[in-house]
Amino acid sequence: TEEDLSRRLSAGLRDVPDYPSPGVLFKDITPLLADPDLFAESVRALSAAHRPGGGAEVDLVAGVEARGFIFGAAVALSLGVGFVPVRKKGKLPHTTVSAEYTLEYGTAVIEVHEDAVRPGQRVLLLDDVLATGGTAEAAAGLLERVGAEVVSVSFLVELGFLDGRRRLAGREVNSLLKY
Ligand code: PRP
Repeated sequence: TEEDLSRRLSAGLRDVPDYPSPGVLFKDITPLLADPDLFAESVRALSAAHRPGGGAEVDLVAGVEARGFIFGAAVALSLGVGFVPVRKKGKLPHTTVSAEYTLEYGTAVIEVHEDAVRPGQRVLLLDDVLATGGTAEAAAGLLERVGAEVVSVSFLVELGFLDGRRRLAGREVNSLLKY
């Protein structure tokens, strides 16, 4: 069941207090990644709705640097579709479009190649954690600017108390684990 899945996956997360700054309780996904059964199960669950016949088929999976690459690439392979990296500023070699977004303190810029998506292609956007939603909102907007239809914005973990869904209002948002 969904509850069993949440319980199993949460056993693969480690809480790290005061990282990256005092007062923040960081959800470390590295134990889950190191466990082949949990990693496979999380990839299966993130992919499930997007398999042929599932009603939310996609042409591409996009992942946000850096931890979104891990799940994004795995889900893309499991679905048999290509992968699009959304990267931090200055990392992509070809012509890019970029978006600035706000972090807890200050701002950051992410980019995607302007030719990463063909017009109308259906894209699943993946990241490990939904916190304030700033990263996902910016990434979804970038993908749409280069022609994507963003079918779902999906996460392994959602920190519900930060209300990141508010910034993704009007989009399909899915997460495997909510805190
Ligand atoms: C983390 C996480 C998400 C983002 C979520 O990445 O992997 O991408 O923050 O936060 P938000 O919802 O408040 O925008 P981080 O910026 O730490 O980058 P990294 O994966 O490269 O370490």
